[in-house]
Amino acid sequence: MLVNAAQMLQSAEKGHYAVAAFNTNNLEWTRSILTAAEELQSPVIVQCTAGAAKWQQGFKTVADVVRDLCDYMKITVPVAMHLDHGSYEDCFKAIEAGFTSIMYDGSHEETFELNLARTAEIVKLCHGKGLSVEAEVGGIGGVEDGVASKGELADPAQCKAIADLGVDFLACGIGNIHGLYPADWEGLSFDQLAKIKAEVGDLPLVLHGGTGIPTDQIKKAISMGISKINVNTDLQVAFSRAERAYVESGKDLEGKNYDPRKFLKPGFDAVVARAKELIIDFGSDGKGWA
Ligand code: 13P
Repeated sequence: MLVNAAQMLQSAEKGHYAVAAFNTNNLEWTRSILTAAEELQSPVIVQCTAGAAKWQQGFKTVADVVRDLCDYMKITVPVAMHLDHGSYEDCFKAIEAGFTSIMYDGSHEETFELNLARTAEIVKLCHGKGLSVEAEVGGIGGVEDGVASKGELADPAQCKAIADLGVDFLACGIGNIHGLYPADWEGLSFDQLAKIKAEVGDLPLVLHGGTGIPTDQIKKAISMGISKINVNTDLQVAFSRAERAYVESGKDLEGKNYDPRKFLKPGFDAVVARAKELIIDFGSDGKGWA
């Protein structure tokens, strides 16, 4: 059932587990994510960036696919349809398209004051429509042009200022980055997480760049207040590895295995299996309507 993400993340924060937020790339991806969540009776967040929405022919197509699949597959667990890293303009488009949860990422705005002002505006608009809101303080690095930037550390005072606007959950840099972590990555900064948590109280915190963080660090972060973990690259790697193995085995050349329903199946089965492992690592299995 489609819901906003506020209640499921408050329950996660109280219950010391995290809800997985998986990025979707197409209908099959969404189906795999929903299959994993339903099988484990876990709440789940299906999220999409503007870039991935463009690939899927617009925010409305993405939202309609999630909504229709929830109906068709008779999904019983709570599912939020979330905009990931929305620009100010993207937020309005995703709201219009029927997303149930919005991330306004104002961390790239010229000033923190502009991030604050726009976050306040988006919170007012979304709460008026029953949608949840994620905001971001401090940039979350990643690999750009082959160069990995170090993950930033969010300023706890800025986190508090954004939290006070009434956002439902907050992304804050604690040394995490998007994409694969470089070999010399120093790990998550638990000191920073503790300082941020001390400022924002029971507000659920979001860990971006969930791919490749060692499980012991994931579990520690959850115990310290991380309630939503974003995962994108991990499922892409699982998909492409399974497809590579399928082609290298030569099975695609047998019978009618060129049929996309057969050709893409190993990849999608791998996405279901990996999503289930992550849901179990994050501890949200069996927490459907907790
Ligand atoms: P990864 O691709 O590193 O898993 O990051 C996903 C993410 O944080 C989306 O916002």
